[in-house]
Amino acid sequence: MTSYMAPRPVRRISVPQLRARKGQVPIVCLTAYTAPVARLLDPSVDVLLVGDSLGMVVYGLPSTLGVTLEMMIAHSAAVVRASSRACVVADLPFGSYQQSPAQAFAAAARLMAEAGVGAVKLEGGEAMAETVRFLVDRGVPVMGHIGLLPQSVHAQGGYGARGNDPAEAAAILRDGRAIADAGAFCTVVEGVVEPLGRAVTEAIAIPTIGIGASSACDGQVLVTDDMVGLTGERVPRFVRGYARLGVTLGEAAAAYAEDVRARRFPAAAETYAEKPAG
Ligand code: KIV
Repeated sequence: MTSYMAPRPVRRISVPQLRARKGQVPIVCLTAYTAPVARLLDPSVDVLLVGDSLGMVVYGLPSTLGVTLEMMIAHSAAVVRASSRACVVADLPFGSYQQSPAQAFAAAARLMAEAGVGAVKLEGGEAMAETVRFLVDRGVPVMGHIGLLPQSVHAQGGYGARGNDPAEAAAILRDGRAIADAGAFCTVVEGVVEPLGRAVTEAIAIPTIGIGASSACDGQVLVTDDMVGLTGERVPRFVRGYARLGVTLGEAAAAYAEDVRARRFPAAAETYAEKPAG
């Protein structure tokens, strides 16, 4: 008789479930780029975001602009393999979707088919509404991203908070409405002043997930490495440090180095003894 193992049931949090969280219990989202981190975060979060912030966090790039679709597919596949509960959302990287809706669909299809993500995220508001509609109509769930747009860092002139200027605030509000009307199931709102975070959240029917956009949002996202103290001393004002893993890692490396130099490592218990012959 052939032995048969039934596939593990997939009970991931679904896009409609996230969409229905508008005004309900806040959506919890963290970034993940690797299998071990995804495995650790999966039980606690609703969304694992494979953000293109991986370009800076993992690859040491100066911005997200150098991230490729191949990088996103490889990291997204690792995160999907190591998780079973959270909805995995992957960023469409710079240059993979802005040219046309068809280009965006091709990139999104690769992330869904090759990596197995449940949705994609793209940056932009009114200008991307047609693309959002094109993807949604073809079965690709889309998370929006408005406010501070890291992929437009050169056009926006830096990473400062948006929305102090009334014209800029009005444009960001229009962006939120445009992508909600185009069918996005939720949207990240990044780096905006509190009244604007609140106004966007009140104005649109889909959940807002804030990063530096105030507690008024329907959920929150942070870059995990910032939250656990792995990205250095200087983190944005909106980050709360929940752990100091950078300090722990540095101390562990120094203790290991001392032990190796003093020949205290490896000890007998960490050494393979020769087995008696026969
Ligand atoms: O790339 C990313 O990690 C993001 C979050 C900061 C929202 O877009």
